[in-house]
Amino acid sequence: MDIARTPSTPDGNPEMADAPPTPKEPPLIRREDYRPFDWLVPKTHLDFALGLETTRVTATLKVERNPAGLPTPEIRLDGDGLTPLEVAVDGQVLNSWTLDDGKLVVPLSGEAHEIRMVTEISPAANSQLMGLYASNGMLCTQCEAEGFRRITFFPDRPDVLSTYTVRMSGDPEAFPVLLSNGNPVASGEDAGGHWAEWHDPWPKPSYLFALVAGDLVARKDRFTTITGREVDLAIWVRAEDLDRTGHAMESLKHSMKWDEEVFGREYDLDQFNIVAVGDFNMGAMENKGLNVFNTKYVLADAETATDGDYDGIEGVIAHEYFHNWSGNRVTCRDWFQLSLKEGFTVLRDQLFSQDMRGEAVKRIEDVRLLRSVQFPEDSGPLAHPIRPDSFREIGNFYTSTVYNKGAEVIRMMRTMAGPERFRQGTDLYFERHDGEAATCEDFIRAMEDGAGLDLAQFRLWYSQAGTPKVEVSLEHEGDTATLTLRQTVPPTPDQPDKQPMPIPLRLALFDRATGTHRGEELVVLDQVESVVRYGGFAERPVLSINRGFSAPVAIERSIDPEELVFLAKHDDDAFARYEAMQELIVGHLVTTVGGGLSDAARSEARGAIGEALRAVVTDDRLDDSMRGELMMLPAQSYISEQFLVADPGAIHAEREALKAWLGQTLEAELTALHRRASGQSSGMDPAARGARKVKTQALVFLAAGNPQAAATLAAAQYDAAETMTDRQGALMVLTGLPGPERTHKLIDFYNRFQGDALVIDKWFSLQAGSLHPNVIEHVKALAGHPDFTLKNPNRVRSLYMAFTGTPLGFHAESGEGYRMIADLILALDPINPSTAARFVPPLGRWRRLEPKRAALMRAELERIGAQPGLSRDTFEQVTRSLG
Ligand code: TRP
Ligand code: ZN
Repeated sequence: MDIARTPSTPDGNPEMADAPPTPKEPPLIRREDYRPFDWLVPKTHLDFALGLETTRVTATLKVERNPAGLPTPEIRLDGDGLTPLEVAVDGQVLNSWTLDDGKLVVPLSGEAHEIRMVTEISPAANSQLMGLYASNGMLCTQCEAEGFRRITFFPDRPDVLSTYTVRMSGDPEAFPVLLSNGNPVASGEDAGGHWAEWHDPWPKPSYLFALVAGDLVARKDRFTTITGREVDLAIWVRAEDLDRTGHAMESLKHSMKWDEEVFGREYDLDQFNIVAVGDFNMGAMENKGLNVFNTKYVLADAETATDGDYDGIEGVIAHEYFHNWSGNRVTCRDWFQLSLKEGFTVLRDQLFSQDMRGEAVKRIEDVRLLRSVQFPEDSGPLAHPIRPDSFREIGNFYTSTVYNKGAEVIRMMRTMAGPERFRQGTDLYFERHDGEAATCEDFIRAMEDGAGLDLAQFRLWYSQAGTPKVEVSLEHEGDTATLTLRQTVPPTPDQPDKQPMPIPLRLALFDRATGTHRGEELVVLDQVESVVRYGGFAERPVLSINRGFSAPVAIERSIDPEELVFLAKHDDDAFARYEAMQELIVGHLVTTVGGGLSDAARSEARGAIGEALRAVVTDDRLDDSMRGELMMLPAQSYISEQFLVADPGAIHAEREALKAWLGQTLEAELTALHRRASGQSSGMDPAARGARKVKTQALVFLAAGNPQAAATLAAAQYDAAETMTDRQGALMVLTGLPGPERTHKLIDFYNRFQGDALVIDKWFSLQAGSLHPNVIEHVKALAGHPDFTLKNPNRVRSLYMAFTGTPLGFHAESGEGYRMIADLILALDPINPSTAARFVPPLGRWRRLEPKRAALMRAELERIGAQPGLSRDTFEQVTRSLG
């Protein structure tokens, strides 16, 4: 519908004027409908007269016809909530423009024009945190994916690359620091206060635009690139946060060096700026030369950040920095190609962190995340391929599938090619597509040509959703071991039938007598079924398969627990040792939850797990960091995945019962481990970090086994803590226990860190995610706490995301937990739709739950869906979840 600029009542048609507005479904955008934009925008000039309440934006676009487009008589510019104050073409004010569903339509007849548009926006009123918004008195932007259209009218799509010049002016008191992309070119004073102009020489899509204005200070440093160019580095924060930026700066310098060495990628501007903001929808954003970060991924010191927080910062700093090549220099043609930059960049940050902190532990962490978040996504109503085919709101596709499964898919190419040939593939990709907006297909072709892979069938990983299942069986007869592999790819929404995909499996056959194998091999299962025979095994060998998690699949096999104990002890692939422990425990829990075990069988199975865990706890060849991984019980969500319909209460009960039994049975060993680890220093070296990890792991088991004694031990760990890791670990255990220590330490923690937003987030999240039976009451009370606000995404997530993981809270049999999350979504949707929509997936699990909970969950989704005026974001997630 065309809406004229001056809306007039349609005279003589009263019915039409009175007709109720038809609630219209947000349109479905399809990948196959891609068409290039009809215009090129070689140059963009933006002028910002900055103010918190009102910012006036003057955008001047040089446009020319795109030879690859159609000869249209107009240009259609995206806009979201904007009204132009003035539009001029080639210097002439023009009144013949129209607004069509928020888009500005300007008639254009020639080959090339200059369009000038003036808009006014209100950053202080921008609670969505998309576009230009105010945070803590400063101004900042978030434009990915479609936020730029909330700042000015523009072809807000990633395949329109333009060179930006940005002038900002404003009150020097409120905004002493003015930053934008690229390099600073000029600054000065004028009537409005002061101003600065920045120029970014690299053409970029609008989603990479950024501006920051505020009262900030910087930690500054320098980096000399491999070719000897000097780069000024700065991390901008509020003055009181400056001494918590050291780790972020170190991480940045390590990332820059690593990308030169491992991927041959050099930085390409004179400056690299990072700004930390407290109000942010996600982790961070890779705007060219001006990354904007959630404070959570910048600020750290030992007192306020855990070892996990340090790792998170290192990983996210690397991730955003690496986007400079995988995302910025080579960007995406359209948003269906999102995994082109995200999957690849996640792989790059994973490999970086592996090199910084050790391969095995990092790999285990990544697989744990994939299994507990991506696998459930892939088996639920929101399942989609890493390259989706359609969306209504692209914000809903920044998913674990696009990011983490996307990384796994590229990792498989690397596994098949080997690191050297993989590097030749990425070199070719960057060389071929530098300065372009590329597709996943372009990446695949560069891999075929550069790495020498045939990826014809492998392309299915981009188009088929669902986690493949590989059934494995090993027969032994005479001296031959026969391995049979059989794959199925489960049906997913809109994809009932699947084709077999190439699945690269690293495997080894262990000789029981010697505890060794003859060498690892890579088997690529590219058919439904495949049989491989191995001779020379007088005795039945033990199979170690999907080593290093070479493929993102679910392995199904019936294996003797005794063989898993063998692998947990002897496998020389660290991931495989972890995997054997997990398989042992998951197998046991699935059987007990199913009610299929006699008491005798249960105690035999527990005995095997107990022995394996005892070996892990006491094996002095293991370093503590790896020991901590091996000690971790499989996540509730991963165990639930093993059931067609799960009973969260029953799974939780069995998991806790096993934990308690292990805590009691191994009390002596665990106590000794805790004591030994408590003697370690509070430093940041691997040994000290490993000690902290096992300390809290030991406490978790001990607390399940003997809550009283463990509460005392946890309180002591809390009191003695010199690091947030120890303090948070102890408090985490205490929040799950009844008793006075819980209350005392929660009060102490709050008082100690009051006013430190990131630490208070932990305080919320520890209580909201706890195993305490009254967690629902706690969360309700916390929602009314003066420090709680729906306006800050970190705070919202710290209370409610943590809660969605609680079996006794979220999954309470009464349905109250589901209702609380539905209420949250309804309250948050008008404030911050992209954050609100992220709470829908936990409610989308209903089909995989036992019938009572399933009905309660579904009813909440329906209640949300019935709300008039839902955002596109929430609407899409709810309809897909019900569908
Ligand atoms: N591209 C960013 C990253 O992966 C993430 C991102 C996408 C984002 N959309 C966002 C961040 C919206 C904040 C808000 O690094
Ligand atoms: Zn990213």
